[in-house]
Amino acid sequence: MPSLRHWSAVPTGLALCALLPAGAALGCDDERAERVLTQCQLCHTIAPGEPHMAGPNLAGIIGRRAAAADGFAYSKAFRALALEWSAAELDRFLQDPPTMVPGTSMAFAGLHNSEDRAAVICRLGGNAATASTPPPRTMADILAASAPSDWRTPDPEDTLYLELASGRVVIELAPAFAPRHVANVRALARSRYFDGLAILRVQDNYVVQWGDAEGQRPVTGGASTLPGEFDIASAAAPPFTRLPDGDVYAPEVGFAAGWPAARDPEQQRAWLTHCYGLVGAGRDVAPDSGGGTQLYVVIGHAPRHLDRNVTLLGRVLQGMELLAALPRGTGALGFYERAEQRVPLLRVRIAADLPAAERTLLQVLRTDTPLFAELIESRRNRREQWFRLPGGRIELCNVPLPVRLQQQP
Ligand code: HEC
Repeated sequence: MPSLRHWSAVPTGLALCALLPAGAALGCDDERAERVLTQCQLCHTIAPGEPHMAGPNLAGIIGRRAAAADGFAYSKAFRALALEWSAAELDRFLQDPPTMVPGTSMAFAGLHNSEDRAAVICRLGGNAATASTPPPRTMADILAASAPSDWRTPDPEDTLYLELASGRVVIELAPAFAPRHVANVRALARSRYFDGLAILRVQDNYVVQWGDAEGQRPVTGGASTLPGEFDIASAAAPPFTRLPDGDVYAPEVGFAAGWPAARDPEQQRAWLTHCYGLVGAGRDVAPDSGGGTQLYVVIGHAPRHLDRNVTLLGRVLQGMELLAALPRGTGALGFYERAEQRVPLLRVRIAADLPAAERTLLQVLRTDTPLFAELIESRRNRREQWFRLPGGRIELCNVPLPVRLQQQP
């Protein structure tokens, strides 16, 4: 695998920083750094991907928000810190940790020698990049260099095909987040419940929704309603890769097994988030009036205010253009006003029920890998030639979740 680079623009005016393999940092006093780092390594690992010890893994620390290493239990004092680690902030912290962060659980007296601090900070990536440092990779480079193990293949049991006259929409279901709804949608599809129903509602910059317009069709193969599955216990959620930039709606956001998700560490709950292409179970006023007979897909700016108000149960992997380009309904909430405007669902099937030759074989980029962490960074700071200014941050639903056709072995 190519060496990992963590990049970020450092706001204090320092140039770009790179985390280089041990001993490779140019212009650092490596001998001194190695000597001083032995103290840190009692509690910290430094190379990317190594496990946390008593302290968090420090790979990519420069330019990262404080207390942002995933899966590490920081002290309350640290979690309340609103800063991004620059070389200058690290210098201040390492000189005297408890003075800068009263209540920190880092039991370390501090480095009182400024040359020791400079050497360590340099080794952690805080040295100004030199001209010989290779440019950071773009998302295209990163994906081109991905290994087969960076991808996962959705389970055909969890894959729903929505067949329209214009083509197939492929939806991956999320049993980890909404097990009962997913089981119900599967059962409804298998009982042919959806076949011949129609898209009833297309509201601009919001959702496309389908279901039984007249409410006449008996629900025989599954449940007509279910209690909401608005969130789950964090411990039950797939591994979480946290976004460093924070969020307006949730204490923490990130990615769990390829899904955009949010967490509340205090309530210990996790949930899927309303990003473009996410699929939810429409419901009435009563929270338990959903269940999956009516489904909707987000086709606009992420309506995150719906998070935890509706059960999200899947994501469109392919065919968004077939939904997002439909004519908008002119009635209230984007409902089509005339029956002939509705778009029929020819068939809705579970992929596992189709012969292999009729399946659409897709793969989704995993989000629990160093490669995905690098991808996030490549989108936080766009370095393609066109860009004048890297953003230095990113919002959850703007991180692409790449899908590709399955590679032939
Ligand atoms: C006795 C164990 C211990 C030693 C020794 C130690 N640390 Fe830490 N360090 C921690 C702990 C625990 C935390 C988390 C602090 C908290 O949550 O309050 C931490 C936090 C940090 C952080 C902030 C990480 C983040 O994600 O925000 C940095 C940077 C850091 N340490 C650097 C160092 C360096 C450099 C050294 C050596 C000079 C060092 N530490 C020595 C235990 C230690």
